[in-house]
Amino acid sequence: MQETDPHFEALLVYLKESRGFDFTGYKRSSLMRRVNRRMTQVDAAEYQDYLDFLQVHPDEFTALFNTILINVTAFFRDLDAWEYLQSDVLEPMVASKPADSMIRVWSAGCASGEEAYTLAMALAELLGVEQFKDRVKIYATDVDEEQLNEARQATYGEREMQGLSPELVERYFEQNGGRYTFRKDLRRSVIFGRNDLVQDAPISRIDLLTCRNTLMYFNAETQAKILGRFHFALADTGVLFLGKAEMLLSHSSLFTPIDLKRRVFRRVPRLYAPPGVVFADPPLNGATAVTGLDELRNEVFAASPLAQLALTPDGLVALSNRQLEKMFGVSARDIGRPFRDLDLSYRPVELRRYIEQAQLERRTLRVTDVEFHRGSEVTHLVVQISPLSGSDGSLLGVNLIFHDVTASRRLQDDLEHANQQLEAAYEELQSTNEELETTNEELQSTVEELETTNEELQSTNEELETMNEELQSTNDELQSINDQLRVSTSRLDEANAFLETVLTSLQAGVAVVDPDLRIRMWNRHAEDLWGLRSGELIGQHFLNLDIGLPIDQIRPLLRGALGADGESGEVLLEAVNRRGRPITVRVACTPLRGRDGGTIGGDGAIIVMETA
Ligand SMILES: C[S@@+](CC[C@H](N)C(=O)[O-])C[C@H]1O[C@@H](n2cnc3c(N)ncnc32)[C@H](O)[C@@H]1O
Repeated sequence: MQETDPHFEALLVYLKESRGFDFTGYKRSSLMRRVNRRMTQVDAAEYQDYLDFLQVHPDEFTALFNTILINVTAFFRDLDAWEYLQSDVLEPMVASKPADSMIRVWSAGCASGEEAYTLAMALAELLGVEQFKDRVKIYATDVDEEQLNEARQATYGEREMQGLSPELVERYFEQNGGRYTFRKDLRRSVIFGRNDLVQDAPISRIDLLTCRNTLMYFNAETQAKILGRFHFALADTGVLFLGKAEMLLSHSSLFTPIDLKRRVFRRVPRLYAPPGVVFADPPLNGATAVTGLDELRNEVFAASPLAQLALTPDGLVALSNRQLEKMFGVSARDIGRPFRDLDLSYRPVELRRYIEQAQLERRTLRVTDVEFHRGSEVTHLVVQISPLSGSDGSLLGVNLIFHDVTASRRLQDDLEHANQQLEAAYEELQSTNEELETTNEELQSTVEELETTNEELQSTNEELETMNEELQSTNDELQSINDQLRVSTSRLDEANAFLETVLTSLQAGVAVVDPDLRIRMWNRHAEDLWGLRSGELIGQHFLNLDIGLPIDQIRPLLRGALGADGESGEVLLEAVNRRGRPITVRVACTPLRGRDGGTIGGDGAIIVMETA
C-alpha cells in the first residue's frame, strides 16, 4: 500500500540518475517523512522546489542521505538475541566445521561498524584469538560511504562503549584518552566495502549473514528481492540473523526459523520434494467373501467428495466420479476416450506432462496453486497425480484427485495478509522508533550546544559584571572629581565675585587685555568713563576701541607691558569722557602676572585709567 505522488517519484528518479542512490524500493511513508524534514530545513514547500534546490546546492545531497539512511546502531544491540546467537548458533556452527575451515560472515547494513566488531568479539570469544585470526573473515558493507569511513577507523567514544562489559573493553580495545580503538590484529579480519543491497551482487559462501534493522526500510517487493540474494549468498547450512522488528513471514520458502523470537533463520535448500503418498495393498485376511463388492467399490468411488479420475496406462479414461462431473463435466460417457482429448487434460492446468512424469518416476506428484475459474467464481485446487501399481509391480494406471483448497487458501491468504499488516505495522513502529532515536540524538546535541552557549553567555555575563564594577568605580572616581570641581568652581565663582567687587570698588577704569590685545575685562568705572558696556566689548581688539581716549598713545605702554621684559609704565593723556567733557586721564599699563611671578593664562596686560 504505497502512497504515490508523481513529484515525489520524480525526485527519487532524479536521486537515482544523478547520484546512483536508488530509493524507489524504500517504504514511502517513512521515506517521505524524512525528505519532508529536509524540505522544512531548507524552506522548500513542494517536491519540485526541493528538486530545484538540490540541483543548485549539491551539498544538500549529503544532508539528505544522512537523514534518509538512518544509522542508529550499537555494540551487541539486543543483547538477548546476541547471547542466543553465540550459544545456540555460533557454537554448534564452529563445532560442526572442520578445524581448519574458514568461517565467512557478512554484516549487511553495518552502519558505523559496531555490528561487525560485535561479530568479531563473539567469534574471538568462541575460537580464541589465534584461531580467529586464521579462520574468520567478516565482510561488513553499507551503502553509506561516510558511515563506512567511520567504521574503518574502528574508534569509538565513551557513549558508544556503554553497551560493552569492562572485560570485553579490556580484551578488545586500546584506550587513548577518551577514545577506544578496536584491536588492530583482529581488525584485519574485518573487511569494509560499499554494497547497495538493492542494486549490487551479494557476497557468496557465507556461513552467517546479519542484516539487522535495515530490511525494514524497504517495501515488500524489494525485501523479497534482497532475501532472494541472501538465499544465494548463504552456504547450504547458512544462518540469517535479522533485527528484532523484521519478520520474514512471507518468505518462508527460502528461510525457516531457528528461533523466531530472536529472528534467527536457516537457509532452506532450493530443491524441496514434498512427501509422497503411500498406497497399501488391501490385506488378504481369508475372511468370508462379501458379495456385491464391485458395485460397492464403484459407488464408493462415484460418491467420493473429491473429484477423481483414473486413467489406463495408455492414457484412456477408466473411471470418473460425480464430483468430477460436477466440476469439469467429465462423465461416464467419456470412459474409454483418450484423456488428452478432454479439456481437463490442459485446463485449468496442463496435466499431461505430470501424468507422464508420475508414470515414469513411479511417484506421486502434486500440482499446487491451480486456479479454476467458473464465471466469477474462483476455485483453488491441488491436483494429486499418483501412479497405480499392481501386486506384481506392473503399472495399472494413474489416479488423479482434484483437492478443493479454496477455503483453506482463503484462510491462509487472510492469515498472510494479517501477518503482513502486522509485520508492516511492527516495522513502521521500529523505524519510527529509530527516527525518534535519531531526533533524540539531534536534540541531545542541540541541548549540548545550548549548554555551551549558556556557559559562554555566563562567562560573558561575568566579564560584563566585572566591567560594570570597574565602570562603577570609575564613575565613583568621576563623581568625586566632579564634586571637587564643583567645590573649585564655587570657590572660583567666589573669587570671581570678589574680584568683581574689588574691580567695581576701584575709583579708576580698568581694562585687561590678552597678548593679542583682545579685551578680557572691562570694569564698571571704565563703563562709566567711556560709555561702553563690558558685554559689548569682551573679545574686541583694544586698539580698535572708539572712545574719547587717544588709544594710539597707549600703544607704546602696551608694547612695553607685553614685551619680553614686561615693563610697567604710565602716561597722562587728554581725553573726552562719555558726556563729551574734556578730561585728563592717567593711564598706567602693567603686565599681567601670577602670584608666583609667572603669567596667568598667557601674557596679557592691565590698563588702569584714572581721571587726574
Ligand atoms: C539502522 S542502521 C542498522 C545498523 C546495524 N545493522 C544495526 O542493526 O545496528 C541501517 C543501515 O542500513 C543502511 N542502508 C540503507 N539502505 C541501504 C542499502 N540500499 N544498501 C545497504 N545498506 C543500506 C544505512 O546506511 C544504515 O547504515
